[in-house]
Amino acid sequence: MNVLLVGSGAREHALAWKLRQSPKLTGLFVAPGNAGTAAIAANLDLKAADLDGVCRTARDHRVDLVIVGPEQPLADGLVDRLAVQGIAAFGPAQAAARIESSKAFAKDLIRRHNIPTAAFATFMSRLDARNYVLGLADAPVVKADGLAAGKGAIVCDTRDEALRAVDTLMADEALGAAGRTVVIEEKLAGREVSAHAFTDGVAVAPMPFACDYKRARDGDQGPNTGGMGAYSPPAWLDEPTERFIHQHITEATVQALFQEGAPFRGCLYPGLMVTDAGPRALEFNCRFGDPEAQVILPRLKSDLLEICWAVANNRLGDVAIEWSTDACVGVVLASGGYPDDYETGFPISGLAAVEPGVLVFHAGTALADDGSVATAGGRVLTVVATAPTLADARARAYRNVQHIHFSRCHYRRDIAAPAQNAIQ
Ligand code: AMP
Ligand code: GLY
Repeated sequence: MNVLLVGSGAREHALAWKLRQSPKLTGLFVAPGNAGTAAIAANLDLKAADLDGVCRTARDHRVDLVIVGPEQPLADGLVDRLAVQGIAAFGPAQAAARIESSKAFAKDLIRRHNIPTAAFATFMSRLDARNYVLGLADAPVVKADGLAAGKGAIVCDTRDEALRAVDTLMADEALGAAGRTVVIEEKLAGREVSAHAFTDGVAVAPMPFACDYKRARDGDQGPNTGGMGAYSPPAWLDEPTERFIHQHITEATVQALFQEGAPFRGCLYPGLMVTDAGPRALEFNCRFGDPEAQVILPRLKSDLLEICWAVANNRLGDVAIEWSTDACVGVVLASGGYPDDYETGFPISGLAAVEPGVLVFHAGTALADDGSVATAGGRVLTVVATAPTLADARARAYRNVQHIHFSRCHYRRDIAAPAQNAIQ
């Protein structure tokens, strides 16, 4: 089977690495990919945003299946365009991708279907939004409706802060059209966890849970980033809670989309808060998390290509999916300054010194003419280790981080630190 994978992050490198293990794979193309995918696939000089280019290339290379990594091309309707041309895809059509591309749509849908979430109201008028904030007893979370690359949720400590957030989004249009509609949501306290599931719109196959670290610095300090590390599984999550999430959040959302005429095919990733009153959905993503994918996919024992093909062809129920009980920890190495300004073009050394079995997934990396690898983005690499226990996986990941060097490298020291995975 020929596969075209769309995207260029460490998530896509992890997907490419796992797809490579499939005996069913013949050609693997990545658009545009990075220095890591170049070593295991054919990178194409094609941006993920170039939907026409992706469709044309899929035809030219006789691609059987397109796997879409990031949310933007899904929100823009890439899968619908491929369907018109009879090309199978792993990823939702535009109507189902709205679960991520419009928070107002997602919240209305789950309210209609009684799926547990934070209380909320949606506003298109700044005045109405401000009046609502003034009437609240507590400071809320203010969210841009549209896609905002992880910058769309403003968690406020005071009502004044919330008023400023409303103004930033709706008057200053800090996030452009994405913030013209806002969702104002009850602020919840608890522990966050990422659920992921394969689904063909009807059958749902949950993946192991994972936790990511969004803030730039240790102790959850500093600005929000795309994600600085992750681990799986979270030992603090008990089985009844896991079952509740599968049934009442993930499966219920898949059913809701199906009933409303927008069946979801691909990876559905609900972001959740586990509160004292039970789990609540905070957001839905229509693709794998990054860096969650980097710690979930190494635990997959089954053939990823077979699963993706079954999802695209409404046959997920026919596939048995097995997971390893090993723990997995991923530490992101970023460019100093990220998520704000940072420099690129620094040579990366030590990649060959990493222990066998430890995975280094590339994100912002580029290959020089002489074959050397240099930094080319904010998040540069994810170093991933598996082991029977989380503590061992963590020690192994950090031991190998020490081998890799580039100028102004920054990473968190507290990914999967024992206290954070403690059972309380
Ligand atoms: P979102 O883009 O909706 O995932 O939000 C990004 C981050 O904001 C989440 O990972 C949480 O840390 C935080 N957040 C979002 N919604 C809430 C909420 N209702 N209560 C508390 N924190 C939230
Ligand atoms: N890990 C957060 C995200 O992928 O949205």
